[in-house]
Amino acid sequence: MKISINKAKKTLLGNRRRGYTLPTNNKLYPAQWNWDSGFIALGYSYFNLNFALKEINTLLDGQWRDGMVPHILFHNTKTNYYPNYTAWNCGNKIHSSGITQPPILATILKEILNKNKINKKQLLNIKKIIKKIKKFHEWFIKFRDPKKTGLVSILHPWESGYDNSPIWDEPMNKVKIEKNIKYKRADNKVVNPEFRPLDIDYDRYVTIKNNLRKLKYNPKKVYKSSFFNVIDVGFNSIFLKANKDLVELLDTFGLNKKKIDNYIRVTEKNFLKLYDKKRKTFFSKDIKNNKKIYIPSITNYFLLFADLNNEKINKRLIQNLKKHNLKEKYFFSSIKSNHKSFEEKRYWRGPIWVNCNWFIYKGLKNKDRLFSDKIKNKTIQMLEKKGFFEYFSCKSGQPMGAKNFSWSAALYLDLKLNKN
Ligand code: GLC
Repeated sequence: MKISINKAKKTLLGNRRRGYTLPTNNKLYPAQWNWDSGFIALGYSYFNLNFALKEINTLLDGQWRDGMVPHILFHNTKTNYYPNYTAWNCGNKIHSSGITQPPILATILKEILNKNKINKKQLLNIKKIIKKIKKFHEWFIKFRDPKKTGLVSILHPWESGYDNSPIWDEPMNKVKIEKNIKYKRADNKVVNPEFRPLDIDYDRYVTIKNNLRKLKYNPKKVYKSSFFNVIDVGFNSIFLKANKDLVELLDTFGLNKKKIDNYIRVTEKNFLKLYDKKRKTFFSKDIKNNKKIYIPSITNYFLLFADLNNEKINKRLIQNLKKHNLKEKYFFSSIKSNHKSFEEKRYWRGPIWVNCNWFIYKGLKNKDRLFSDKIKNKTIQMLEKKGFFEYFSCKSGQPMGAKNFSWSAALYLDLKLNKN
């Protein structure tokens, strides 16, 4: 047991660079990623609060003037990663990508504050952090939900963090690949290509990116003209929960919470419009093509974490969740394993991801303690047996992708050491 806790700490420290931490050290992801850094900060908070705050501060150093926090910061420009900083060609102070990722910082910060003694200097820093996070959330509300529906759009599959999920298959099929598109992937040289997205996926990722770049990442223009515009259940659940956590933080620090508070009310009301009463499931919405998306993705259960405070819905979600991986030894697969889009080993099309289990475990804690403990223990056992890999097969537990994966190690620390 102790060995794994030490190993988790060592994994994080081994991936740490100047003020930020790589998702892994095997050259697959040679930069700072947005939501990875959130999870990583939570991991550090168990043994070095200053590293935790530094991780967040460095990420927020790359915040754009309009409020967006990019999904990648390229602190080191000499890498083989594609798309690299020149392919994006943007950034404020730090070279960055021109899109964002799930906003988990408010949630992470609240978790950190709940269990740590904070000194005066750190408190001052935290207040600054909270103001920046508020600006980030306001950016979402202003530019990703211009009609104020309470639900925000993502404009690139990479913004979701679950890049090649089947949720995006239909909207992606509609994206016409740019003529004579040219680029050089590096990811499938580092990891078995069978575990990675396909070339045709990359053709479309790059096509969408190039269009955003052509629009100079102007937030109003990209909302209207991106080739991809989806309201996703999982993403909006993360945002709703983060808004709730942000309101508490604003309250604690005597900052104005009114705007965010009001937005939460609208979200809670309109989330129900994504519920299909007949099928008894939530659906995502392809705004670009005006289509509903029904994919049994584990990310739909992030709603338990956000919590609509609707007992009937929660009960239904838990019932469905219990059927998600009925026959599998390991859980939760990112996609229900009897669904036609399920692929056991291909990235976000089937494998188990530790952050997904973490969101669901947290969401269930106050609703079904027995089940939530089971999720926690199974996840811990899997990591202790297989190591801190990026993702795992639900059939065999086979570890895949990057090893020494930071968020697997960081969330292991939280699952193992969190006393709340
Ligand atoms: C991949 C994942 C994304 C993650 C990044 C770095 O793009 O899909 O969620 O943030 O790698 O680990």
